[in-house]
Amino acid sequence: MSLDHIDAGDPATIAASLATRFTDQYGRAPDGVFAAPGRVNLIGEHTDYNGGLCLPIALPHATYAAVGRRDDGTVTVASAQEEGSPFQGRLDELGPGQVKGWVSYAAGVLWALQEDGIDVPALDIVVDSRVPVGSGLSSSAALECSVALAACAAAGVDVDDVLRQRLVKACMRAEAEVAGAPTGGMDQTISLLGRTEAALLLDCRDWSTSQVPWDPSSAGIDLLVVDTRAAHALVDGGYQARRDDCEAAAAELGVALLRDVTDQPAALRSLSDERVRRRVRHVFSEIARVGEAVEQIGAHAWEALGRSFAASHASLRDDYEVSCEELDVVVDTAMRHGALGARMTGGGFGGSAIVLVPHKEVERVSAAVDDAFRAAGWPAPGFLTAPPSNGARQVR
Ligand code: GLA
Repeated sequence: MSLDHIDAGDPATIAASLATRFTDQYGRAPDGVFAAPGRVNLIGEHTDYNGGLCLPIALPHATYAAVGRRDDGTVTVASAQEEGSPFQGRLDELGPGQVKGWVSYAAGVLWALQEDGIDVPALDIVVDSRVPVGSGLSSSAALECSVALAACAAAGVDVDDVLRQRLVKACMRAEAEVAGAPTGGMDQTISLLGRTEAALLLDCRDWSTSQVPWDPSSAGIDLLVVDTRAAHALVDGGYQARRDDCEAAAAELGVALLRDVTDQPAALRSLSDERVRRRVRHVFSEIARVGEAVEQIGAHAWEALGRSFAASHASLRDDYEVSCEELDVVVDTAMRHGALGARMTGGGFGGSAIVLVPHKEVERVSAAVDDAFRAAGWPAPGFLTAPPSNGARQVR
């Protein structure tokens, strides 16, 4: 059986075929084609909305958006992944409660940009997602950020790093208020600010960022990503429930964010609810692990980094309870077949895992995971490699 490798595709080729699709649909060429990447988070999970640290990298897999201006106050949105006629709505009617389903992520961004004072024109948009949807690799943020960049270009706004930070906030607002997924900002930040050859250390207390050179391949080590194909949706309630526990704990401890707690052992002892205490223990330990991981990466201490991955997964599985059987099987199987470390990445409840593995063991680990899924009677997992890639950009 051959493994299912999820290809990122060649950006110029994807952009050209999306431009052709746009032209076929609307009878004119698009004004431009924009791409924004998905991501994997190396470590620092469920920390962003607690003001903590995380360390994502942008994937070569991106969502592409072709756009063309129109002059009648109407917005249309079509997708290469969706059958049927495009969504059509009025530019001034794209806010909360007005658009449903996947289109709400794109329409919500156009609404949020207008709320932020950007003079978004009427637009036709066609998108093509090469980030597998529902994979926990941030297909939602990739869609939002590609549309945000496209809309800014159509509005004639100059996209510098200051504007990119504003776009992060607009995309978060769109996702929370229009799409109904109250996410924490990591995904949009890396999609807009990612760089090749580096992970992005993001401090979610003040939203400062720094680049952490990430090149395990120079030591013969790969980062393998495994899409379990198990359902992952952040609008289902589990994600919000974790946020609610963290907010309740912060209120009980008298701080705005869990990151602000100074005496962590005392805080853990004082929390009255056992479940909430485990949630908070995850947040504290995970933020500490990000700091350790940055040092391990700087020192090329790959085995130690692998142990940090393993500790992160155990904490997410046992204390935060956001893993699932498929993710645990990937992690356990990979560790038994020569991986240095493995962990779920992203929100959890399905989605993807990352595996730090010597290059010479990649085939063996992948085949073992594939076999384990077949033995369990689950759909075949998808595999991709993750060289850090650029953030959102114009490709045509
Ligand atoms: C999802 C959210 C992020 C973050 C992660 C967990 O990906 O979109 O904001 O909270 O889960 O680290």
